[in-house]
Amino acid sequence: MNTPFALRGGALHAEDVPLAAIAEAVGTPVYVYSRAALEANAAAFRAGLAALDNPLVAFAVKANPNLAVLKVLQQQGYGADVVSGGELLRALAAGMAPADIVFSGVGKTREELELGLAKGIGQFNIESREEGRELAALAAARGVSAPAVLRINPDVDAGTHDKISTGKAENKFGIPLALAPAFYDELAALPGLAMRGVALHIGSQLADLAPLEQAFAKLGRLLAALRAAGHAISHADLGGGLGIPYQPGEKLPAPADYGAMVARVTAGWDVRLTFEPGRVIVGNAGVLLTRVVRVKQGSAGRPFVVVDAAMNDLARPALYGAYHDFAAVRPSGERIEANIVGPICETGDTFAMGRECDAVQSGDLAVFGNAGAYGATMASTYNSRALVPEVLVDGSRFAVVADRIAPETIMAAERVPDWL
Ligand code: LLP
Repeated sequence: MNTPFALRGGALHAEDVPLAAIAEAVGTPVYVYSRAALEANAAAFRAGLAALDNPLVAFAVKANPNLAVLKVLQQQGYGADVVSGGELLRALAAGMAPADIVFSGVGKTREELELGLAKGIGQFNIESREEGRELAALAAARGVSAPAVLRINPDVDAGTHDKISTGKAENKFGIPLALAPAFYDELAALPGLAMRGVALHIGSQLADLAPLEQAFAKLGRLLAALRAAGHAISHADLGGGLGIPYQPGEKLPAPADYGAMVARVTAGWDVRLTFEPGRVIVGNAGVLLTRVVRVKQGSAGRPFVVVDAAMNDLARPALYGAYHDFAAVRPSGERIEANIVGPICETGDTFAMGRECDAVQSGDLAVFGNAGAYGATMASTYNSRALVPEVLVDGSRFAVVADRIAPETIMAAERVPDWL
């Protein structure tokens, strides 16, 4: 278990708050975040980049868009990488400066481009010639010039799960490297666009720096070629993707290793670098607190531990076969081998099979670890379950930072037409 979530007097705490107190006050399931962990991660990532000249760190809002989480990061001097109008509104609501917001995404709609222009965001990461032309026309009609970079697809295998790989030629993201110079020439000539550089993002939960280094080197060669063609290149956006350890004993490159590699590869680029980290900032800063509904005897001798959290609350195991640590809030010391499942009516609602874990009983509290990234934000209300709430801990105090949204509230937004 990560340090902000540690056993004290035999009971798991988030900083100075016993998790049992949060379960008592808010109920379960509930996401619990540690402010200290968020701040430590934000500082560590920035420290890793200390050798660089004034980089922009734009937190990938998709990893955890909770307003309180964004506020913590804004106070750490972070900007935001957004991929929808909704994320853009959140970043602004958290007080992030428009100039520190970059807008990524392969399918920005006309309305979203207009919103970005209206709010005066710092950078559009253009993912296609078509998007570039559309943005240019919208900006020109407003009499402004949109600051933009071209996202390229470097065709590098990030070595991560297929569903979160974004830098292979067959992936939908960015512009093929070979086409980039011609597209850049065309877009740079359009009134309405202030083309100023290049961008990439090759995937998430990268366990190895080599693919990143390979992609950055390709970006560096493109940057040199664009300059040779007469373009003024002042910015390069290196995306996010740095992974975190999920399994016991797993070793991953630290932000300092990443920063050292970046400094080496980008030496002499003479640009302002942007980074879009998500998971590495929030992943280990959150847990999903859950209560064991009952322990049911299984056929293969292994019990099914049925918890009150489900795939609608934490989708990563069902979607990517992801591993999340499972630990009792008050461990007895006894260990079992169990299947850990939620109450939803499909087999995909399985957190782990044959997992060695703390022995738990009906009514016990437990946590899924490293759930701060891509957790609550991917929650749904499937099986007409409530939308999971979120809590932020700060020392010995805590606050509900997202309410549990009850099925009644969700039903209230539905209508039965009067012709039924
Ligand atoms: N920038 C762009 C353009 C991205 O698409 C992403 C993530 C990031 C930055 C942040 O990547 P990070 O530093 O968090 O790896 N739901 C999946 C992860 C999807 C990531 C999508 N893009 C999961 O739960 O593993």
